[in-house]
This record gives sequence, C-alpha cells and structure tokens, in this order.
Amino acid sequence: MAVADNIRQMMTRSSWIRRMFEAGAELKAQHGADKVCDFSLGNPNLMPPPEFRETLIRLARDDMPMKHSYMPNAGYPAVRGAVADYIREEYGIGLKPDNVIMTCGAGGGLNVILKTMLNPGDKMLVSTPCFVEYRFYVENHGGTLEFVPGKQDFDLDVEALEESIDARTAGIIINSPNNPSGRVYPEETIRELCAMLERKSSRLGKAVYLVSDEPYRRIVFDGNKVPSLFKFYDNTIIVTSFSKDLSIPGERIGWLAVHPQADDGANLINGCILCNRILGYVNAPALMQRAVADLLRITIDVGEYQYKRDKLYKSLQHMGYEVRKPEGAFYLFPQAPGGDDLAFVDMLRQELILAVPGRGFALPGYFRLAYCVDDEIIERSLAGFSRAIKKIPAA
Ligand SMILES: Cc1ncc(COP(=O)(O)O)c(C=O)c1O
Repeated sequence: MAVADNIRQMMTRSSWIRRMFEAGAELKAQHGADKVCDFSLGNPNLMPPPEFRETLIRLARDDMPMKHSYMPNAGYPAVRGAVADYIREEYGIGLKPDNVIMTCGAGGGLNVILKTMLNPGDKMLVSTPCFVEYRFYVENHGGTLEFVPGKQDFDLDVEALEESIDARTAGIIINSPNNPSGRVYPEETIRELCAMLERKSSRLGKAVYLVSDEPYRRIVFDGNKVPSLFKFYDNTIIVTSFSKDLSIPGERIGWLAVHPQADDGANLINGCILCNRILGYVNAPALMQRAVADLLRITIDVGEYQYKRDKLYKSLQHMGYEVRKPEGAFYLFPQAPGGDDLAFVDMLRQELILAVPGRGFALPGYFRLAYCVDDEIIERSLAGFSRAIKKIPAA
C-alpha cells in the first residue's frame, strides 16, 4: 500500500470544510461562480492593509546581504524581539525574545508545540464546537484529541473540562474568538479555567498546559477585548498568525510564545525550535518575518467584518433562524432548522448556498457560515436562506 493506514483513515474522515469546498467547485462549474454564494471557507476576502504592500515593496528593494538565506530555526532575533515587545504591550507580561518562535502560520505553530509536548497516547482536550483540524494536528504527533462539549451559549464548560483531565492529559487547546462560533470566552470563564488548571496540575503533580490558538484575537466587535491568558496561567503557550488580521493566509507566517514562568519552559522552547526544524519548516519565511515585524499593530478594517456580521445575523434572525450573535472572528454558527445539519446544508446547496455542517466542528445540529465574503454575496444569499427555512415544517 502506498498510503499508510493512519493517513488513509484521515483521508476518509477528512475535513468537512474541504469537502464542502470541493462540492462548491462542482456547483460553480455547473451554475457559474457568480450564482453560488460560498460561505464554506474562512479565506478572508478583504485585501491586506496598504501598509503590507508598501512594506513588501520596501523590503524587496532593500539590498541587505543574505536576505533570502537560512537563519536560526526560531527566526530572526530582531523579529522575535519585536514580537516580544508587542506581547508585553498586548498581553501585559514581560518576556524575552527567546520565548518567541516565528512559525509557518498558526497551523505550523500548533504542530510544532504538539510535536514537542506529546508522548504516544497523551491526550489533549478541546471544547466543542471547535476547529477540527486540531484532531489531525494532535494525531500527527501520536496523541488523541478528546472533545468536551461546551455550554449552550458556546462558552467553555470548565467543570466538564475538569472531569476529563487525567494523568494522560498533556493539555487543553482553546480558541477565542472561536472558529466556528465566534465566541469570545469572557474573562470570568478564563479565570475559572486557569484556577481549575492550577488545582489539577498540583493534584496530578505535573503541569497541564494551556495552548491558546489566537489567530482571530484582533477581529473582535463592539469594543470587545480577548483576555490575556498569559496574565492568568503560567503554563500557557500562545500560538497565532497574521493569516486573518492581515488577510495573508497564503503567506504562512505566525508566532508562538511560551510563558516565561512555564514549567520546564526553557526545554519547551528548545524542543519547539528543534521541532520547527525537523518538521521540515526549517524556519518561517524570511521576507514575511521582516514584513510582519513592521506591521504588528496594523489590522484589516475590522469594521467591515462587523458590518457583514450585523447584516447576516440580523437578516437570519429576522427569518426565524436561531443564532447567537458572535463577539469576534468572521463566522456565524446558527442551529440547523429541523435539527439535521447535513439535511439542512443540503437544502442550502439547492439554493446555491454553501455552508459547512456543524458535525465538521464536532457539533452536529448547527451549520457554519464564513461571512468573510463580499457584501454582494451576503445580499444575494438572503432570498435563498429565507426559502430554505420556510421549507422546514414548524415543530
Ligand atoms: C481556529 C484556527 N486555528 C488555526 C488556523 C490555521 O490558521 P493559519 O493560516 O495561521 O495556519 C485556522 C484557520 O482557519 C483557524 O480557524
């Protein structure tokens, strides 16, 4: 067999998002791309801020010697220093450039930290709904991912997480603002989670690490702010990227940072640097590192996503969809009318609307809409959403 058994298995249960993306390509070929309203993929539609282009032009003209060469596996020291300064400002704790590693996006960073942390059979926990690539990332490195149901309002259920922690638990992954719910976990929940992790770690006699995946941190609405986990729990690793807030997911650039007081922190960082190398990333892209170092406080216009959220949220709610108003990211996660997410997503497809069933995020009964699309697509989709819900018999 050319393909290993575990990869074969992964291929058969491969992500719903990708499956919908492929189904969408078919639909577009059949009806024309301009007829299909594609909400399936979190691929930001906004152009990167103008500063990104200007920075690239400046860097391309710069004759710095060796500017396209190999470098230390953790990234350029000056770039790690710039990120450390930013973290001090944004997260309210001081840390050294040595605590930061430049990565190939958040996906790359997550694989680096999971490879570093996990022994065969170790468990990571995640609250659902969640980004299901986590399962592949954990299994890539011999671990297992356990899904722990979140609350009805998509907040973390700290008690349920506590009950799921045992001697094999290496850590918890959290993601706020959340993909797919758009939920920002409130500070009260974060404090409760961190107190629970302190308690559990001391009872188990080993650290249970918190891996915080934050690529949407800066995409928050109505003055919301994502709490700094670094302030509440020392055994925290932050992983993030510029994919969403600079609209550059194809450029594969991000960073991870280990709390300066983390248990076994120096080894954890050195392990991550080794893993960045041996996973074949070697180092994050040189030009992109230098670009983002100058753009750490620049973001796409979040107001544009807030406008799209408001338009789609209000319209769906008015039509009778049960949907929670998200505080951040660029997703809506409504309940599937009739309760069957697969059946409802299929009904939407008949209306030439592409959505992803909730089971693609470990929560059947819902569906996800990635509204990082042109306003015109949102506008055009509304009649189809309205027809689809009207086809569901009243309960
Ligand atoms: C929650 C979450 N984590 C990680 C990623 C990976 O992002 P990146 O492009 O930074 O690898 C995504 C991408 O959609 C995501 O939604």
